[in-house]
Amino acid sequence: MKKTQAYIQENKDRFLEELLGLLRIPSVSADPAFKASVAETAKLVAQHLKKAGVPKVEVCKTAGHPIVYGEYIQDKKLLTVLVYGHYDVQPADPVELWDTPPFEPVIKKTKRHPQGAIFARGACDDKGQVFMHIKAFEAMRKSKNIPCNIKFMIEGEEEVGSVNLEKFCKKEKKKLACDMVLISDTSILDNKVPSITTGLRGLTYLEVEVTGPNRDLHSGVYGGAVANPINVLAKMIADLQNKRGEITIPGFYDDVDIVSKEERKAMNQAPYDEKAYMRDLGVKALLGEKGYTTLERTSIRPTLDVNGIWGGYTGDGAKTVLPSKAFAKSSMRLVPHQDPVKIFKLFKQHFEAVAPAYVKVKITPHHGGDAAVTPTDSAEYKAAEWAMTQTFGKAPIPVRSGGSIPIVALFETVLNAKSVLLGFGLDSDAIHSPNEHFGLFNFYKGIETIPYFYQQYAVLKQKK
Ligand code: BES
Ligand code: MN
Ligand code: MN
Repeated sequence: MKKTQAYIQENKDRFLEELLGLLRIPSVSADPAFKASVAETAKLVAQHLKKAGVPKVEVCKTAGHPIVYGEYIQDKKLLTVLVYGHYDVQPADPVELWDTPPFEPVIKKTKRHPQGAIFARGACDDKGQVFMHIKAFEAMRKSKNIPCNIKFMIEGEEEVGSVNLEKFCKKEKKKLACDMVLISDTSILDNKVPSITTGLRGLTYLEVEVTGPNRDLHSGVYGGAVANPINVLAKMIADLQNKRGEITIPGFYDDVDIVSKEERKAMNQAPYDEKAYMRDLGVKALLGEKGYTTLERTSIRPTLDVNGIWGGYTGDGAKTVLPSKAFAKSSMRLVPHQDPVKIFKLFKQHFEAVAPAYVKVKITPHHGGDAAVTPTDSAEYKAAEWAMTQTFGKAPIPVRSGGSIPIVALFETVLNAKSVLLGFGLDSDAIHSPNEHFGLFNFYKGIETIPYFYQQYAVLKQKK
């Protein structure tokens, strides 16, 4: 292990330079205009795996963006770890809110990253974190210190729902056979407070269309007599939550997993400074479901948010129009046992039932996925805990996250493999937002921690 860690220290600067190269390619999976860049990124990831010493690497075509697959099988008797991550990124819009261009990475210091952070789209989510695994592998390979078989599956469609990855997993069960999945695509509480993610929320995403009159109308000639679909939609959305911050869709909470008092008490021990939280976001007060703390509201409780709303005239100047249609996109974050398809149906039924006679509503589903929880008493978790303890100098805290990685639940059902969510970002790293960044401390800490994980996992879970 000494040699491995020394190799990392000696090659630090090159690792960073290489990551910056990867961040320069705009691998935006949602926008067809970036298709060639996404493909180019897949090729570069494959080249990096090869250069790091992964003997078998392939770029697998799908109906969408390619999946990069690699494997290093030393001995069938050894344990096999599947490393999963994604090289695609969210769109950079609104680009004008970035201080520096999203695909021209720069290093700048911040309050939470006094040693500097890499500013670029995908720096933290997830290119930077995927790259930690590639460089950890290189260091382990060069220092002949790999106690497991390792497979890599780095996809290009996580940010758009992993539809083709799901098909790939079902088709390639044998190829992907493993003892566990290792993922770095989540966060720690603070650089001084390491944590391991033990749960992810599920997701139902949908789109609503509300139609009033059969055409746009003059708001003076018809206004006052004909319902305005934007007004109606706004009221319908507002009514989806009551004064207690609870979601009013009948049956929405029926399957919600009740977390025990003890567990809630334990999770609230995690350090959390509400004042600092509000200061960081520039708000004077918080809003959420009554009876739950911020930590609980963002992890063990389901939510409903409108992600976008539009209709009518939004161009320059004024246009006195009573529009024919109004639209909204909405996401619901789900907790264990809530079924995303059932929740979609409940939303649809409810929205149709409460729609007044003067409008028609149409509800269309988008991608979604199940929540996931991972055990803390497994060899996998214990190995991750030990590894972080070596590099941070203190034991990590188990924390349930509010984000979603729908493929994690599928790894369980399709590959019969549990995941370990060994992420190194911070929630304040602005993923999906302008000025996304990833701390240099975090990038290097990840590379240093991963070899310890493999070492301990091989010890704790010896194969017969
Ligand atoms: N890496 C994130 C998920 C995440 C972020 C988990 C922070 C925990 C902490 C992932 O790339 C992501 O953005 N997932 C989407 C869902 C997906 C279906 C588009 C999400 O959570 O919105
Ligand atoms: Mn991600
Ligand atoms: Mn993401």
